Amino acid sequence: MIVARTRAELAEGLSDLRDDGGAVTLVPTMGFLHEGHLSLVDFAGEQADHVAASIFVNPLQFGPSEDFDQYPRDEVRDLALLEQRGAGLVFIPGTEEMYPSGEPVVTVDPGPLSERLCGAFRPGHFRGVLTVVAKLFGLVRPEVAAFGRKDFQQAVLIRRMVRDLDLGVEVVTGPIVRESDGLALSSRNRYLSREERAQAPAIQRGMRAATELFESGERSAERLLDTVRAAIGTHELLRLQYAELVDPESLEPVDAAHDGAVLAVAAFCGRTRLIDNVVLGEDRA
Ligand code: PAJ
Repeated sequence: MIVARTRAELAEGLSDLRDDGGAVTLVPTMGFLHEGHLSLVDFAGEQADHVAASIFVNPLQFGPSEDFDQYPRDEVRDLALLEQRGAGLVFIPGTEEMYPSGEPVVTVDPGPLSERLCGAFRPGHFRGVLTVVAKLFGLVRPEVAAFGRKDFQQAVLIRRMVRDLDLGVEVVTGPIVRESDGLALSSRNRYLSREERAQAPAIQRGMRAATELFESGERSAERLLDTVRAAIGTHELLRLQYAELVDPESLEPVDAAHDGAVLAVAAFCGRTRLIDNVVLGEDRA
């Protein structure tokens, strides 16, 4: 596995990787890898000949009161895991390599889709995400890029950026990987205390209860969302930030649930912000 820390090493590594003419799938990450990330590496391997992963904790997408400084990092373990899973190249730049002139002056405007769901509570977050993803696309020039459904709004915005700006990358999305009790894997789960960890799966249980209600014929968004609110509300360490039922493309709230609508939830578990989502009925994405 080629490990590239600079742009020059990346260019050289990519030309070695592409030597046989194969296509490259990029899997961007912020590291501290878990099975959610690694399942994307596996998935990426099925999409193209070579997998290039990136590890970069992007300061641009963290708010001033967010966890950029504490964000967990374990480079040695990450590299070993990526090698095990068959990645051909890892780009692992420092902040100065990624942003040599400091904070970029020109950034990607994520538009109105970024004002909904998580974006309403994290101003500037999606501008930071889209800007770094556009830079990674420019640096790596992948044929395909893989993202997880776990970060539903992020995946929607990246698809939209690629479409609206004609970036010429095929975006594929992989399913959410969960712990056996339903909690979606996240690098941030490591912040949870034992008590918080025990309560966190209530988010997924609430979403599952709403899904079952939908499957038994309930279509009222309010009643489905009440189910989620009730499941989370009984846990004193959980505080719901939002629960919304939205159209998967416009991200606009829907009053009546339909196949393909997405139930998206963000909740604080203690001081840790967790997100999750599920597609109701048949996935039309
Ligand atoms: P990060 O949170 O490290 O996630 C990297 C990729 O792994 C994202 O596409 C995310 O959706 C996916 N992922 C995370 N947890 C997952 C899970 N439980 N199941 C499936 N996929 C999962 O998302 C980011 O980094 C950054 O915003 C990034 C796109 C790298 C830009 O900085």
